[in-house]
Amino acid sequence: MKPAIKITKTNQSRINEVDFDNIPFGRVFSDHMFVADYYDGQWQDYRIVPFANFEIHPASMVLHYGQSIFEGMKASVSQSGKAMFLSPELHAQRLNTSAERMCMPTFPEEVFLEALHALVNLDQAWIPPQTGSALYIRPLMFATDEFIGVKPSHNYRMLIFTGPVGPYYPKPVSLLAEDKYIRAAVGGVGAAKTAGNYAASLLPARLANEKGYDQVLWLDGKDFKYVQEVGTMNIFFVLNGKVITPPTDENTILKGITRKMAIQILEDNGYQVEVRKLSMDEIVEAYNKGQFQEAFGTGTAAVVAKVSKVAYKDMVMELDQNTAKIGQVIKDHIDGLRNGTVADKWNWIVPVKEMAAVEL
Ligand SMILES: Cc1ncc(COP(=O)(O)O)c(C=O)c1O
Repeated sequence: MKPAIKITKTNQSRINEVDFDNIPFGRVFSDHMFVADYYDGQWQDYRIVPFANFEIHPASMVLHYGQSIFEGMKASVSQSGKAMFLSPELHAQRLNTSAERMCMPTFPEEVFLEALHALVNLDQAWIPPQTGSALYIRPLMFATDEFIGVKPSHNYRMLIFTGPVGPYYPKPVSLLAEDKYIRAAVGGVGAAKTAGNYAASLLPARLANEKGYDQVLWLDGKDFKYVQEVGTMNIFFVLNGKVITPPTDENTILKGITRKMAIQILEDNGYQVEVRKLSMDEIVEAYNKGQFQEAFGTGTAAVVAKVSKVAYKDMVMELDQNTAKIGQVIKDHIDGLRNGTVADKWNWIVPVKEMAAVEL
């Protein structure tokens, strides 16, 4: 049976207030949101309501102890006007991986997917049609018990809300390999998309900005030797013709969905991708031999962001953007899938259901 999602439509759409040619990232929100509550040991009260504020108790456990997880994904429209998601089930699964690590209840995947279809179907007019633009989707789950004391909450809220985002044309990013602060260590929560990981990254990111770098390149939390990831992206290096990206099996980095697609796209295009530990020493050595050819980050927001330089200790490794071609292969492929101009060999595209199967 399809999950019952009760829909209350807004009687005053805000869509005419939006300049779709000039959308600031993360500041514009669509008309509706999905809400569910966890109480009495189960998820219930599935509903779509007008996007609005809600009250929160000062002792809400999320505010104190940080049981909060989220996802970030996109819906877009093809050149022929068809709305679609890319691998939404992988986001549903990753949300639940995060939930398990943070001692939170998992959310039924079929309800998650049904809610996405219902919500995006309802707010389809908010998907910007321009190439590279998309409807950003933010699923979020947090603890709501009104309690002071460290323990897992009994009650939780799940939200999914959306907002249009413009095309992301990032200039190549400069990275500072961080050798004082860490993002994640073996045994920690690095693989969970949980709020505290982002809070912990803010100070080192600010210090890197003050030194003139765009983002931090995180190194392993034990020896500050091996690369992990960057800000909100997984990282790929091209050394002497080989594409190398760190493995996710130590649970210290996020299992990026763009990363997974990128590896597949590169293999389909005849590139060998080595998923293995990569030390800064190896990168420096390659640079000194003239073999550090390219680096790029992958993530939902930018899809692919090229790297202009990497600083490590007293060394600054500048990268020639004219010879950096491999990241672009991935970006062109994913943009093409979204436009409908590239064949969807791996069935990553899931069209938004025209009539969401919603029981009122
Ligand atoms: C810490 C971190 N790493 C990597 C990624 C890239 O993951 P994805 O490709 O699934 O967006 C993100 C973004 O979600 C992130 O926040």
